[in-house]
Amino acid sequence: MRLDQFISQATGLSRSEAQKLIRWGRVQVGGQPINKPATHIDPQATVSLDDESLTLPQAIYLMLHKPAGVISATEDAAQRTVLDLIKHPHRHTLHVVGRLDKDTTGLILITNDGDWSHRISSPKHHVPKTYLATLAETLSPEAAQQLEQGVLLHGETAVVSASNVKILPNQQVRLTIHEGKYHQVKRMLAAVGNHVVKLHREQIGNLALDAQLAAGEWRLLTETELAHIFGQ
Ligand code: URA
Repeated sequence: MRLDQFISQATGLSRSEAQKLIRWGRVQVGGQPINKPATHIDPQATVSLDDESLTLPQAIYLMLHKPAGVISATEDAAQRTVLDLIKHPHRHTLHVVGRLDKDTTGLILITNDGDWSHRISSPKHHVPKTYLATLAETLSPEAAQQLEQGVLLHGETAVVSASNVKILPNQQVRLTIHEGKYHQVKRMLAAVGNHVVKLHREQIGNLALDAQLAAGEWRLLTETELAHIFGQ
């Protein structure tokens, strides 16, 4: 990882504050002063700031039941973010995995492990995400079939499809998508002539939102959940 990233994560300082400390020569790696913030270091290296040894916070993985009305960002000057709901000693190290719209509720993951979040949110990895959508009109079986066969979203060149599209009572539909494009579920339903009134994410990979968590509540993931989120 980059040295400035290490300093920032270990101290809670911003990346630019960490860069200044490094440039000023206050940081040592393995006993040697290093003054280039972009230097790549082994995360296990002995790093010190003003002769005080620093350690990275351990990897943290948690699920939040996102309420409506908060944005999927780490911080924001004007709006409440999902991170504002997390009281944790290493909160400063955490980031949100992917994005849910402000009005979307349900499962959102928060971590300080960048590789893990990339694996979940990158469209390339096709981690399935399951949503429960409440629609303006009952979905017709033809529209459900169209969603499974693939629809071309406005402004896109490749077709996207949903799997396990299940028409439910009360104008609801459950469906699984595999890419995570911007507003994907809403745009897919619009592409078949419907409109999403409410959207709730139930599951990411093999991990379902804990039914015990009320909107706004969170908990750490268990070892078992972490081991199985991508399969088996
Ligand atoms: N698709 C959407 O349209 N919105 C979300 O928040 C998530 C998926």
